[in-house]
Amino acid sequence: MIEFDRLTKSYGDLLAVENLSLNVAPGQVYALLGPNGAGKTTALRCLATLLAPSAGAVRVAGYDSRREPLQVRRHLGFLAASMGLYERLTPRELLLYFAELQGVPGGGRAARVAEVLELFEIVPFADRLCGRLSTGQRQRVSIARAVVHDPPALVLDEPTLGLDVLSGETIRRFIHGARASGRAVLFSTHQMDEVELLADRVGIIAGGRLVAEGTTEEIVAASGEKNLARAFLHIVREAA
Ligand SMILES: Nc1ncnc2c1ncn2[C@@H]1O[C@H](COP(=O)(O)OP(=O)(O)OP(=O)(O)O)[C@@H](O)[C@H]1O
Ligand SMILES: [Mg+2]
Repeated sequence: MIEFDRLTKSYGDLLAVENLSLNVAPGQVYALLGPNGAGKTTALRCLATLLAPSAGAVRVAGYDSRREPLQVRRHLGFLAASMGLYERLTPRELLLYFAELQGVPGGGRAARVAEVLELFEIVPFADRLCGRLSTGQRQRVSIARAVVHDPPALVLDEPTLGLDVLSGETIRRFIHGARASGRAVLFSTHQMDEVELLADRVGIIAGGRLVAEGTTEEIVAASGEKNLARAFLHIVREAA
């Protein structure tokens, strides 16, 4: 469902992502780990059609990001690590607007928006201006916005960044539900506990290259360390 096929992306002389291949199947949750500057956001932005690959390809639901960007966007829910909201709209207005943009049919729009307002616990502040929301409230609206068209592929760049324990739990529950209903989920994070709780597969990216991949258990075992946090340090140091 989500496919990186030897993706390479450079910014001028800087090689940010090199020959990255990975797949996420329907019903699978894949966690992308890597130190700051490893290339995670760059790779995810290529997938979301926001950056053009320098070489290789990325596909969503079989659609190529360069040849069929509109189809890619329609099949993808993308949460950027830092996403602006329209400050002068309320969450309800914003979600209705994006539901329309993403092709949710008029008759079902209000119901779908009500559903995501519930799902991400936005109801108490659904009619306040986005410009007046707290960091965690904004983050939940951003995720709701990314998934309002109920796409089959979800790509979430640090979805629980800035969230308290309760809100983090709301997002984790959402990801579990998405998996149960056959969505493919790819997310990046710096929190190892989240990976252990959620991910069917883990990829570790360092210096733009995928340096380890497998289940949490496989990665820990291959590193000879006793948990994922130590395995991560070990693998990243070795790669450097
Ligand atoms: N627009 C840009 N122009 C030039 N270089 C960039 C640009 N965006 C990112 N880079 C560089 O590309 C490399 C990869 O950055 P990227 O944001 O993909 O890392 P990341 O893995 O998402 O890191 P983090 O964990 O800090 O979010 C870094 O060296 C970064 O400085
Ligand atoms: Mg990033």
